[in-house]
Amino acid sequence: MMVDISRRNALILGAVGVGGVAIGSTGLIVSQSTGSTSSSGFTTGNALALPPELRSTKGVLTVALESSAQKITVAGREVRALSYNGGLPGPTLRVRAGDILNVSLHNALTDPSNLHVHGLHVSPQNNSDNMFVTIDAGDTFEYRYELPADHPPGVYWYHPHHHELVADQVFGGLYGAIIVEDPEEIAATRERVLVISDITITASGTVPAATQMEKMAGREGELVLVNGQLTPELTARPGERERWRVINACTSRYLRLQLDGQQLTLLGIDSGRFETARDVGEVVLAPGNRADLLVTAQSGTSILRAVRFDRGSSGGMMGGGGSSTSADVSLATLVVEGASTEGLPDVPVQPLPRDLRSATVTAQRELVFAMGMGGGMGGGTMSATINNLTFDAARVDTTVQFDSVEEWMLTNTSMLDHPLHLHVWPMQVVELGGQPAESVIWQDVVNIPARSTVRVRIAFNDFSGKTVYHCHILDHEDAGMMGIIQAL
Ligand code: C2O
Ligand code: CU
Ligand code: CU
Repeated sequence: MMVDISRRNALILGAVGVGGVAIGSTGLIVSQSTGSTSSSGFTTGNALALPPELRSTKGVLTVALESSAQKITVAGREVRALSYNGGLPGPTLRVRAGDILNVSLHNALTDPSNLHVHGLHVSPQNNSDNMFVTIDAGDTFEYRYELPADHPPGVYWYHPHHHELVADQVFGGLYGAIIVEDPEEIAATRERVLVISDITITASGTVPAATQMEKMAGREGELVLVNGQLTPELTARPGERERWRVINACTSRYLRLQLDGQQLTLLGIDSGRFETARDVGEVVLAPGNRADLLVTAQSGTSILRAVRFDRGSSGGMMGGGGSSTSADVSLATLVVEGASTEGLPDVPVQPLPRDLRSATVTAQRELVFAMGMGGGMGGGTMSATINNLTFDAARVDTTVQFDSVEEWMLTNTSMLDHPLHLHVWPMQVVELGGQPAESVIWQDVVNIPARSTVRVRIAFNDFSGKTVYHCHILDHEDAGMMGIIQAL
């Protein structure tokens, strides 16, 4: 039960910290204990709710998911959006290395869809993480994912991946968390999954289609939600250690996360762990990235903010407009009060991550990310290309040798950042803007800043088969900034 005064403080702090707010902060009416309702009918300040959790037992997790368009509650308001099993986000799936995850996906949408388990190191073939499966409206497909016994722990997620519909379906509400548990437990007082997503809801309670201009820059929603809520409240006692599993499920929005007044310790980004946990002042997540964080609670009220991140502009090409720089947004409030508690044991030292900087590289290649206008001025459509080509489901762009190590030079010639995502095999960043990486960083989404180059190394081990790499600004992916890779 919250004391009223701290709630009021929280709202004030929230208002101070937000310049050019994306969420409606005017017209907030503070109610006694059930949060606040803004003039647009959304509720803010409620206690954070977690998506339902489904956990594997005896090495197996079997889940039924249904994607549908229906009336659901988003930030306290009844709206018509997309969801898995009626929830936004969908259920959290908790598995361990070596487990089998069975997902029966029923597509109750009116469009085709399918499922991708983003970041999982599993086979891209057959009914595993196969990007060439289409589930027509009304159909059901049985997925089966076998996690290797040494699958890295971390935060992963699932979302649809049907080409040309990915941005609409994710933006509409289709996503959920997958957690691969640590082999050796990391002590925490409690754990919270924070699925951060953005969405726009019209006055009539629907999700609008994106304009050409929005697609060019990558659409950003007017509301930034945490587990489907607006600025929910979290409470803790001083000294408690929280485990936050943060997912950037936004279609295009970058999240530069800050939590002033609290101690943040980063265990890892995307998959796996740093050998030693790092204290950080902020965490930047490109669309698709995840953070596995510890928050050591200090007395006081803190606002989790996504502060302004400049990911470039498509204005030059569009003859004005197409701004893609978000203002600061308050995402959640953490209220820490009460008697302090004892500290928890130190985070166990993690196994040394593999370092490909000393590996033998058997092939080098370059991927050039470019944007432009096709079809003439004015009514033209955008082009978003990799090596001058847009996606073609019938073409293999990149053939790699199974079990080899490659170095990829990722060059972005455009004025916008592009976050490159590769399925199945994570990438180790070895050089950024001409500077060698100082430590071992593995990610499955690597941001390539506008007009710059990033080098990564990839070990194509454990699985062969065909899958994709693409920009995780999902409007760019749908526009064709995607290629097919085959490991033979
Ligand atoms: Cu999260 Cu190919 O996508
Ligand atoms: Cu993915
Ligand atoms: Cu892009």
